[in-house]
Amino acid sequence: MLFEGRIVLKGGHVVDPATGVDDIRDIRMDDGIVLDVEKSITPHPEDQVISCVGQYIFPGFTDLHVHFRDPGQTYKETLMTGTRAAAAGGYTAVCPMPNTVPATDSMEKISVLLKRCAEESAVNVFPISAVTKDQAGTELVNIPAVKLAGAVALSEDGKSVMDIKLYEKAMKIAAKEHIPVFAHCEEKNLAAGGVINAGEKAEALGLPGISNAVENIITARDIFLAGETGAKLHLCHCSTKESVALVLLAKKLGYQVTAEACPHHFALCDEDIPCDDANYKMNPPLRSKEDMYAVREGLKKGIIDCISTDHAPHSEEEKAEGFFKAPFGITGLETSFALSYTTLVLEGGMKLIDLIRAMSTNPAKLIGYRGGQISVGKPADIVVCSLEQFRVDRNTFVSKGHNTPFHGKKLYGKVLRTFVNGRMVYQNPDCDMLF
Ligand code: DOR
Ligand code: ZN
Ligand code: ZN
Repeated sequence: MLFEGRIVLKGGHVVDPATGVDDIRDIRMDDGIVLDVEKSITPHPEDQVISCVGQYIFPGFTDLHVHFRDPGQTYKETLMTGTRAAAAGGYTAVCPMPNTVPATDSMEKISVLLKRCAEESAVNVFPISAVTKDQAGTELVNIPAVKLAGAVALSEDGKSVMDIKLYEKAMKIAAKEHIPVFAHCEEKNLAAGGVINAGEKAEALGLPGISNAVENIITARDIFLAGETGAKLHLCHCSTKESVALVLLAKKLGYQVTAEACPHHFALCDEDIPCDDANYKMNPPLRSKEDMYAVREGLKKGIIDCISTDHAPHSEEEKAEGFFKAPFGITGLETSFALSYTTLVLEGGMKLIDLIRAMSTNPAKLIGYRGGQISVGKPADIVVCSLEQFRVDRNTFVSKGHNTPFHGKKLYGKVLRTFVNGRMVYQNPDCDMLF
């Protein structure tokens, strides 16, 4: 930890959708909380002052969807490296998905994870429990018990619960327990064998395709189950234009439905896949250009509530296997803000404050995290960014996963410093030059 104790951030442009502030402010923090947010704060002699002139200050980002591979596949990522990668990406809270080995599927496993976090984690961790034991799709976890242990959501991410009767039962209990269900929507039988979006690119590369219907069918199923049971449903990684339309319909019907989209799905489309390079392979796959623009519009209009990364680290060797054999997923925590700012704000005309709503305010609210805002008395979970251009270099990633299609890309929006509970947990190596 580099800075702790009483800190004053001076002269930064604060953008906080929760309080509506979008102006130059000084911030004083101490003892883990925000003490003052004022137009001008006169530092006391014992205060450590960090100049943020020309920089932007946001409530720390919350990622509702990460894969940390710990326990079981720690050669890909660990709790330690994953949470440090999160800090480097400006995240102050993350929700690890339960598809570890073994799966996070019991009160005991949630408790052990949270205990480990207190020792090993750089940021706040809000675990997600599996819906079924061992994610086998046959027997429900003890939902009240995992909630009691600290799980903030239930998810079978990596697949869908295909037994609709069992999923209905899970949603009924989830509704009663006030715990949201995070849905990975994939019709398994229809997807069978697919590795890339169905279309011209799949044909050109001679690879089996995954159609939009694979996602749309289960998205519709889950929305209507949520409507019927009263469950809170959060739709993971929406990638099709039909998913965006279905989310809008669900909201119009008054269902408790929220949705997320991932930077790769709004920054890239299948036409951008240059060759058989598995760094472009993820599930759901990169879709058509039309889908990509629909996801952008969905975010801009607030139909899609949150930006999540689906941070899915894999080893170099695994990803070198090519599209057909390599596992699905890309590392996302350290490119998320820059991809979102560049694509949605600079190219897409979204307001910066609305982007921060999707990265901080909305996801924090969804899991009841007290961060996601810069207010007096609230946790000092804050990120300082510059909006300058930089070049993505995967060799500098804090994550063990270097599997990204964005290596070498010029983007705008650099994370400079991340504070969790008033302590600096990340400082960009370029910062020294900024003083
Ligand atoms: O691309 C993906 N990677 N999608 C998923 O649903 C799972 C994830 C993983 O665990 O690697
Ligand atoms: Zn998923
Ligand atoms: Zn995932």
